[in-house]
Amino acid sequence: MKSILNNRPALKTEINKVAEVAGYLWQKGWAERNGGNITINITEYADDGIQAMPAISKVKPIGATLPYLKGCYFYCKGTQKRMRDLARDPMANGSVIRILEDCASYVIIADHPVNPTSELPSHLSVHNYLISKGVNYKASLHTHPIELVAMTHNQKFMAKDIASNLLWSMIPETKAFCPRGLGIVPYKLPSSVELAEATIKELNDYDVVMWEKHGVFAVDTDIMAAFDQVDVLNKSALIYIAAKNMGFEPEGMSQAQMKEMSEAFHLPK
Ligand code: 13P
Ligand code: ZN
Repeated sequence: MKSILNNRPALKTEINKVAEVAGYLWQKGWAERNGGNITINITEYADDGIQAMPAISKVKPIGATLPYLKGCYFYCKGTQKRMRDLARDPMANGSVIRILEDCASYVIIADHPVNPTSELPSHLSVHNYLISKGVNYKASLHTHPIELVAMTHNQKFMAKDIASNLLWSMIPETKAFCPRGLGIVPYKLPSSVELAEATIKELNDYDVVMWEKHGVFAVDTDIMAAFDQVDVLNKSALIYIAAKNMGFEPEGMSQAQMKEMSEAFHLPK
């Protein structure tokens, strides 16, 4: 079958990682129905052949003007598409888009005219922000991790860095592998530009942002690394809940233990 992935092994490797992660999201119960979305900046793989590919959709507005994305290419999960289906067939459940000259609209170029995720304003605003900051992150992931979302139903965890410090203190690896911690975005309408703007603000300080009563949004160099950050945070939430279920408040690592570990691993804060 004709596909943008044919004879492009490096691009295929990236899309296969998306499919692998989509399978994990489903297995973890974080991706009910069409829940969650993934976008990957694949501009570095856009050879002459890709740049010459005609549009297979009409021109669609992004909903925001994003100057750093002119002529960029993204793989996007399709809206209403299931992660469990994407795991089997990423090009039937997502598509590749090209951002147009006006930086405010896009067309689909491959493989099929699958409409991108409804969270496209957040994803593309984040990619625009990452490029503007010179950050070499190519992947953004939104998912619905059960225990982390449950924590957002209690305002005591929503104050700045409370959830971060609690989760970091459950097991040393969490701070080691999610060193910038967990930012918090108070509830906003899904897919809104307000949600996108609030997310970008938090990304100044964090790689993973909690959307209150909804899910998380994570960025990293590739989709596997973005998934890992969410996975270690949710593991800590599970340890916290397990301790509570055994009838006690977990001690958590002490501030001295956290400091010792941060210095040993050369962590940022
Ligand atoms: P999409 O199916 O449009 O990607 O939406 C899923 C979702 O989680 C919205 O927040
Ligand atoms: Zn969602």
